[in-house]
Amino acid sequence: MQRYSRAAIFLHWAIAALLAFQIAVGWALEDLGSHGFVLYQWHKSVGMLILALTLARIAVRYWKPRPAKLEGGWQGALASGVHVGLYAFMLGAPLSGWALVSTAKVKVPTLLFGVLPLPHLPLPAASHALAENGHGLLAWIGIALFLLHVAGALRHHVLMRDGLIWRMIPGRSPVLLVGLPALIAVGFLAGRAILPAPQAAAPAPAPVALEADNAVEAESNVAQAANVAAPAGNAAANASEGVTEEPAGPPPAWTVQPGGRIGFSVGNDGDMISGNFAKWTAAIVMDPDHPDSADIKVTIDMASASVGDAYKDGMLPGDEFFGVAAHPTATFTAKGAEATGPNSYRARGTLTLKGVSKPQSIRFTLSGKDANRKVSGSATIARAPFGVGNGDSSNGLAPQVAVTFAFTAKRK
Ligand code: HEM
Ligand code: HEM
Repeated sequence: MQRYSRAAIFLHWAIAALLAFQIAVGWALEDLGSHGFVLYQWHKSVGMLILALTLARIAVRYWKPRPAKLEGGWQGALASGVHVGLYAFMLGAPLSGWALVSTAKVKVPTLLFGVLPLPHLPLPAASHALAENGHGLLAWIGIALFLLHVAGALRHHVLMRDGLIWRMIPGRSPVLLVGLPALIAVGFLAGRAILPAPQAAAPAPAPVALEADNAVEAESNVAQAANVAAPAGNAAANASEGVTEEPAGPPPAWTVQPGGRIGFSVGNDGDMISGNFAKWTAAIVMDPDHPDSADIKVTIDMASASVGDAYKDGMLPGDEFFGVAAHPTATFTAKGAEATGPNSYRARGTLTLKGVSKPQSIRFTLSGKDANRKVSGSATIARAPFGVGNGDSSNGLAPQVAVTFAFTAKRK
């Protein structure tokens, strides 16, 4: 049986797998906020690669001999019609994508694969809606044509057993017969795999933190504050939701300036014990206008804790409190934050302390503008789940520890 040329077979399966990748990434783009900047660049790069490969494939089609048609009649005509449709999809999807990017209000530069600048097409801005709607619709038309195409291939292979499928598989290899179509699934899954973890997966605050009365109070105060601020918060949320345009850049990273402070205080038999951690670092990525894309990691050197009393300071690193020998650092990580009012935010993340990881939320406000921001905030931490203060000398300690922080951050 005559086969397609190696070049045609390679291009057939490479393009199929890349198209599946494109659709998986494309469907997620609009929900990503500023976190999506890198993915947009990937989507545009792979899309333009598909355009180039499709042009090469059309060239190969005329340059290398193709196997003769196996079937005439309406079935043959349908197969050819679907092929023409698939070529139109392979050209139309990237061209409509290029057009929609070229006519967007905010013209975001594209660097294909980080190296090759993609010029904007000279198209009227009025064609944006058409390009955008067409781009989304073409994906569905492509999927429909693909299903017809696969149904046709299966009909030949399973019902007619005429060996047609081997024309697109090198060497009549049964492994490739499964492996090459499976590349389409691999492309789709790869597209899903490079998406950032969904924000909704952020853990809810620890239920145990709500057991103590003062924690309930603290949480409801926050809830109230959030309600009072709701109109402004909603306005901000709506404003950022309305913007489905491509983000103009990745969310900025910030460097914590020297002089910041992380302090803690806890009631002790009607008294208050307060201290701070002298050594800590924070890696912060956050666009204040798109807090959902935030990526925060704070690492605290637990041996640097002091309450300003030599005797108590001597106890802190021990197993009853921080167990520093086994767990020298505590970390707080959060992917994403939410606006609770103008300049106020809440981040639900994970606190790892003394080897135990629990959901923990922190609240903070930003002041200042542009590249210099002052950050201050607080968290209420239930110490029992982390085993902090688990001995006799802790009997008078309140179950909740208030943590406060304040520092200046400079945009990198
Ligand atoms: C080559 C094949 C391509 C496929 C199969 C594809 C597929 C898709 C899909 C399914 C979406 C989601 C549409 C929606 O849900 O409304 C999308 C969105 C998008 N695509 Fe593509 N795409 C391709 C190429 C391109 C290219 C080459 C560019 C730009 C140079 C591009 C730019 C975009 C943009 C900016 C969006 C965001 C959605 C919007 O603003 O409407 N795409 N793509
Ligand atoms: C499991 C998936 C697929 C299978 C089993 C498959 C199989 C085949 C086979 C056996 C042929 C040769 C038909 C013949 O000799 O008459 C073919 C041709 C073709 N396929 Fe696919 N295909 C698949 C996916 C795709 C995808 C995703 C696309 C593009 C979006 C595509 C586009 C085409 C085109 C345009 C042709 C016509 C080639 C030409 O003669 O110019 N296929 N396919």
